[in-house]
Amino acid sequence: MSSTAAPPISAAAGGPSLPQERRLVTEVPGPRSRALFERKSAAVAAGVGVAVPIAVVAAGGGVVVDADGNSFVDLGSGIAVTSVGNAHPGVVAAVTEQVAAFTHTCFTIAAYDGYVDVAEALNRLTPGDHEKRTALFNSGAEAVENAVKIARKHTGRQAIVVFDHAYHGRTNLTMALTAKNQPYKNGFGPFAPEVYRVPMSYPYRDGLSGPEAAKRAISQIEKQVGAENTAAVLVEPIQGEGGFVVPAPGFLAALSEWTTANDVVFIADEVQTGFARTGAMFASEHEGIVPDVVTTAKGMAGGLPLSAVTGRAEIMDTAHVGGLGGTYGGNPVACAAALAAIDAFEHDGLVERAEEIGTILLGTLRAAQTSDPRIGDVRGRGAMIAIELVDPETGDPDPGLTGRVVRYAYEHGVIALTAGTYGNVLRFLPPLAIDDALLRDGLAVVLDGLAAA
Ligand SMILES: Cc1ncc(COP(=O)(O)O)c(C=O)c1O
Repeated sequence: MSSTAAPPISAAAGGPSLPQERRLVTEVPGPRSRALFERKSAAVAAGVGVAVPIAVVAAGGGVVVDADGNSFVDLGSGIAVTSVGNAHPGVVAAVTEQVAAFTHTCFTIAAYDGYVDVAEALNRLTPGDHEKRTALFNSGAEAVENAVKIARKHTGRQAIVVFDHAYHGRTNLTMALTAKNQPYKNGFGPFAPEVYRVPMSYPYRDGLSGPEAAKRAISQIEKQVGAENTAAVLVEPIQGEGGFVVPAPGFLAALSEWTTANDVVFIADEVQTGFARTGAMFASEHEGIVPDVVTTAKGMAGGLPLSAVTGRAEIMDTAHVGGLGGTYGGNPVACAAALAAIDAFEHDGLVERAEEIGTILLGTLRAAQTSDPRIGDVRGRGAMIAIELVDPETGDPDPGLTGRVVRYAYEHGVIALTAGTYGNVLRFLPPLAIDDALLRDGLAVVLDGLAAA
């Protein structure tokens, strides 16, 4: 960690040329960050929380720099969004060019290349070589909502099956699809009907094989919902907010087989796992499954708001003309950003980089686990890795410990995030642009925090 005092930055160029170092030059939060949070309390609705109390002025590679000149190691990527790196030069150039050309027409009023280019790229990159169609939206939740609309229209059925620990967003329908009450749903009901929750495969906690866990879920669907009423099974191939739960091998394949046999639409929510994050372009590939419909967002557009539903042509095309869309969906600036980011995913070795990051994270964390029984589980794939912290005596989740470690990391210049139904999962989601030295430094701080807690 550098101790050289950097001048406070008010407006800085971000991107990979920022010094890739952890550097604290004030207490945190520093005075400028504190000033922003005083204004925030008076101006911003209390429900909009901020996990890391800093006032960001620049970010790039593996660092986030605040207004006081502190440089934090970024182990969160704004929740898996800045996978190509913040202010990626290709994204900046593409956005700059597009902004100067035109910023908006509303694609459903007047079309442009960028939207169709992104649709073609998604049709090519998502799993399976069948004929596909894509529709673009703004947020992950909006993509999931539209995937549900399309599945219902296609099947003429209403029931949507989701899983324990699932997270699909915070709009009214996606709150119903999301499992965890606090903070996502508490007091915000009534929720949308015809949503049925079944058990997820959670190998650390249920000890079941993939086929056993699938049998349990399918039996519940058949007994409590009925295949003939089920429009879609919606699942994250690796659960994100739910705690980076990687289902046991064979779970997703068995579900996929059951959906095919029963004309149910299999929707893979790859909003968090998509675009190289897990060491494959899409996490479904690890299990060899070909979903009927895939939802994407987050990493796709390098930080600009863009999401998509991509699926089998015969499913996607059942929605009537005018049934899908929205004012901003597939905005030209976001599409330009996505095309640049997708170019980086495909041509800058980012899938391989995610795997390398995973090797470093898993190696270090598994070594730490051998001498620290509070690390109950180490899991994940690629640059989506987590540890589950527990009471070594009882195996009970330890959210208090998890919170203390995250706090320590912040106070020592590292942005680390929690997750999980029980709040006891510490997750590592670094930008794929982070270098090894910075990654190892950030990881060491987190493990110091665990030792100190
Ligand atoms: C798997 C998954 N689906 C949907 C969403 C919702 O995305 P957004 O926050 O862009 O609405 C998220 C966000 O974390 C997610 O992880």
